[in-house]
Amino acid sequence: MDAANLVAAAVEARERAYAPYSGFRVGAALLSKGGRVFTGCNVENASYGLTVCAERVALFRAVSEGVREFEAIAVACGDSPCSPCGACRQALYEFAPDLTVILADGEGRRWEVVSLSDLLPQGFGPADLER
Ligand code: THU
Repeated sequence: MDAANLVAAAVEARERAYAPYSGFRVGAALLSKGGRVFTGCNVENASYGLTVCAERVALFRAVSEGVREFEAIAVACGDSPCSPCGACRQALYEFAPDLTVILADGEGRRWEVVSLSDLLPQGFGPADLER
């Protein structure tokens, strides 16, 4: 799967965002090493703090299906590309410290490609607990 297809999946997932409080809709599409795509959207809550980001919805869907190895994630939001929040960077780092991260605008018109290691340098992960 190429970047354009993964971005298209994130854009489609964004349409299902539940964001009545912020109005800020986000979609994510996570590509596994086996070629499966897991999508997610942000899901907000009247208690605000229970909101879950699109990236973590996609990640937890994948892990709950027994998939733990990932190649790339595309994130689609807003008029211009945005970057995953700190909590999502940490959650993704657990499984894929070298993940490719594709940052796209909400319509998938343009995107940029970065690495999770750029977004979360010197992250804390499972290996750190073995020291
Ligand atoms: N949000 C995401 O889904 N992913 C991000 O990377 C940043 C923020 C959501 C959370 C909340 O529903 C809305 O965007 C505004 O913060």
